[in-house]
Amino acid sequence: MSHDPSFLEALAERVGTPFWIYDASVLRKRIRQVKALTSPPKVQARFAMKACPATSILKEMLKEDIWIDSVSGNEVLRALHAGYPKGKEPAKICFTADVFRDNALEVVMENDILPNVGSPNMIQQLADAGYQGPISVRFNPGFGHGHVNACDTGGPSSKHGVWFEEAQAIADKAKAVGLDVVMIHAHIGSGPQFQELHENLSRLAKDFSAIAPVFPALTSVSLGGGIPHDYRNPDAEFPLEMLRDLFAKAQQDLSAAAGREIHIEIEPGRFYVAPSATLVSRVHDVKATQTNEKGEGVTFCMIDAGFVDLVRPAMYGSYHHIEVVGKSDQATEPIVVAGPLCESGDVFTRDDAELLEPRDLPRPVPGDLVTLRDGGAYGYAMASNYNSIGKAPQVWLEEDGTITLMSRRETIEDILDLETEEPLSV
Ligand SMILES: Cc1ncc(COP(=O)(O)O)c(C=O)c1O
Repeated sequence: MSHDPSFLEALAERVGTPFWIYDASVLRKRIRQVKALTSPPKVQARFAMKACPATSILKEMLKEDIWIDSVSGNEVLRALHAGYPKGKEPAKICFTADVFRDNALEVVMENDILPNVGSPNMIQQLADAGYQGPISVRFNPGFGHGHVNACDTGGPSSKHGVWFEEAQAIADKAKAVGLDVVMIHAHIGSGPQFQELHENLSRLAKDFSAIAPVFPALTSVSLGGGIPHDYRNPDAEFPLEMLRDLFAKAQQDLSAAAGREIHIEIEPGRFYVAPSATLVSRVHDVKATQTNEKGEGVTFCMIDAGFVDLVRPAMYGSYHHIEVVGKSDQATEPIVVAGPLCESGDVFTRDDAELLEPRDLPRPVPGDLVTLRDGGAYGYAMASNYNSIGKAPQVWLEEDGTITLMSRRETIEDILDLETEEPLSV
């Protein structure tokens, strides 16, 4: 959403640029929209916290009894830190992974977390670690796609999960090591088209009905996340009620197929948080390249935010709406918005083929603020320290206008703190 220019300027002076601003009212509206699709306990929503794991966000989810899908040991610990309970009755935190890295196995076992595994070997690894209790199994549905090929979550090129054809082998493996499969899961990714998501979810529910009888201890089926956000038309509304009907029908069909009541789960990430955060940056320079035999010259607007803050455009060619603050009524011209990093790809205006795609913007001048909208999902969550730059602060705007610093700017001391000269004996 757009914020008042003088408010953004005052905040920029207070916390410096770039910074993130999260809008509580926008987040809460999206949470209400997801909740309206559910009917606990028959249909329960989780939040795929990888999209935005900040404690303030997790607390909002917890208040609304949105459960958690975590993907690392540390994500589980962040969910516990935000106040989520341990345990599997019910499993308010679920742990989905392709690999048990770092502290993952330990955290799962110590905190009685439901593991959602993606291979027979992972079942064996659980058993070898002495895990006893229920498990969930992630399936690769073989269809569907992400918003770009790199995010493909279903099909031969996706690393996630086991195939439906392996269902019996998985059931046998779990039985052999004494673990009960209580949930089966798949995530088919946010294809940009709502209709396509709807068709894919219907197909997934049918495919799960076919394998449900293979798992005698089954109590839940997770249809994953993937509700899209329209970055080019952020205020556009999808016919979400179609999903409510789909989930209710899937719950009935799967219960009939299994011969007992089955609960449905969903775990969107992006949809809840994408529109809630805006990245605010300062223009430091405006400069132009010349036309020559390699191509046409362009005007660059040089801002202090880079792909260390918001990597989606550089990584996937993703679109984020850009505004030059306070200049929305001015004439526009094609401008490439680029960041401070020593990397030519540090550009926010790119197309799907990852080439420069100048954006029609009012001509900025140094000192202007530039905002990049809809960065709440996979924005700060994917921030890095490339070029030894500290992560930008995050600010929370409450509905009554109160503002809170959610996280401060990372400093060189924070970064250097990890370095040691500790001798290792091996
Ligand atoms: C297992 C799983 N569930 C849920 C999600 C959330 O997807 P989205 O943010 O597109 O809703 C992801 C995203 O990568 C995922 O891998």
